[in-house]
Amino acid sequence: MSTVSNTSVDEAAQKELLDRLIAELVSLEGHLSPEVEAAIRAVPRHLFVPGVPLSQAYAAQDAPVVKKDRYGVTISSVSAVRIQAMMLEQAQIRPGMRVLEIGSGGYNAALIAELVGEGGEVTTIDIDADVTGRARRFLAEAGYPQVHVGTVDGEFGLKDRAPFDRIIVTVGAWDLPSAWVEQLADDGRLVVPLRMRGLTRSVTFERRRNHLVSRDYHLCGFVPMQGVGECRERLVLLHGEDVGLRVDDGQPADTEALGTALAGSKSEAWSGVTVGRGVRFDGLHLWLALKLPHFALLAAKQSAVDLGLVAHAWNLGVPAAYDGGSFAYLTYRQVSSELKTYEFGAYGHGPAGAELAKQLVRLTQSWDGTNLNARIEAHPAGTPDSELPEGALVLDKRHTRVTVSWP
Ligand SMILES: C[S@@+](CC[C@H](N)C(=O)[O-])C[C@H]1O[C@@H](n2cnc3c(N)ncnc32)[C@H](O)[C@@H]1O
Repeated sequence: MSTVSNTSVDEAAQKELLDRLIAELVSLEGHLSPEVEAAIRAVPRHLFVPGVPLSQAYAAQDAPVVKKDRYGVTISSVSAVRIQAMMLEQAQIRPGMRVLEIGSGGYNAALIAELVGEGGEVTTIDIDADVTGRARRFLAEAGYPQVHVGTVDGEFGLKDRAPFDRIIVTVGAWDLPSAWVEQLADDGRLVVPLRMRGLTRSVTFERRRNHLVSRDYHLCGFVPMQGVGECRERLVLLHGEDVGLRVDDGQPADTEALGTALAGSKSEAWSGVTVGRGVRFDGLHLWLALKLPHFALLAAKQSAVDLGLVAHAWNLGVPAAYDGGSFAYLTYRQVSSELKTYEFGAYGHGPAGAELAKQLVRLTQSWDGTNLNARIEAHPAGTPDSELPEGALVLDKRHTRVTVSWP
């Protein structure tokens, strides 16, 4: 396979790259609909990532960086095909539909243009004029000049071109602005990477009168939304800048008391719940996040692990419970090298660390091992508790009250 960056790839080389990509997607996701496969085969992805080696441009999990902020943090990327395919499957786009994409790049908009066909309409918007400039150029070069590209804050959608049968948000959102619900057709679908207590899931929502109800959700990661809808998590430092707890959704946290917890002794508890190597357990993360009274994500640098301060430095954060000046976080240990199985447990710190570790373990024991059974709803802010699903966890955002319940 060629690894040379080139805008003129011959047909045979492109077919080979696409065959491999499709095979990789099917092996990762287990399924690819004929519609999404046809769209991926039709759009020359390399034209949207100039300068990127072909092997990388057509790799399922690669998300080439487009722009970083002045601190070196990625603020725009061309999303990985794996995530784009997953979200397009969630959206179930049909010919003739009107679709809004929030967060541009060009490539995904071209895939959507393939799915809606000549009778449909695609609008893509981005807050960053550099990004929309590139997207406009690439779309024209790749043969999709009909896609409407706008430079606006996605928080407000694009009223002039509403209603939309589908809205696909390709940037991490903490809330669901009213404009998105208002601009969605009555039987429309919104697919959005929604952050709940620090965990992001790509949720498919359908409209029910004034609120949204989830159909499904999947693990994903996205750059966070900028502009009016920006909402950062709070970072409670536990050991200089090397270890911290990321606290989301305005949960209260005693910063001072927690700051001394890590220095104390460590307790541990084990669950007897095991998982095989390579098996995903993001369902457990969500279960803990939504069941614990106070949930945070432990963020650590590898140097803190090397020093023995904490056990893990996972990219997406380690699920943790906290209370007052104590916290406990999820861990695992190998129980069978032959079968490559691991047992979940928890480490606790602070006066109530042992109790919190036991609480994490009890919740792990009550998890049903699945990923896909929470029901997520988004009701307008101000909806009284009595009109929300009974017994649901309520996350109060600016525009919405997001509820999560388990059947
Ligand atoms: C992951 S990229 C989008 C990838 C793109 N859909 C593609 O085809 O690969 C996320 C984009 O969201 C944009 N963004 C961030 N905040 C935004 C906002 N409030 N409104 C619109 N776009 C926003 C960023 O500028 C960035 O380009």
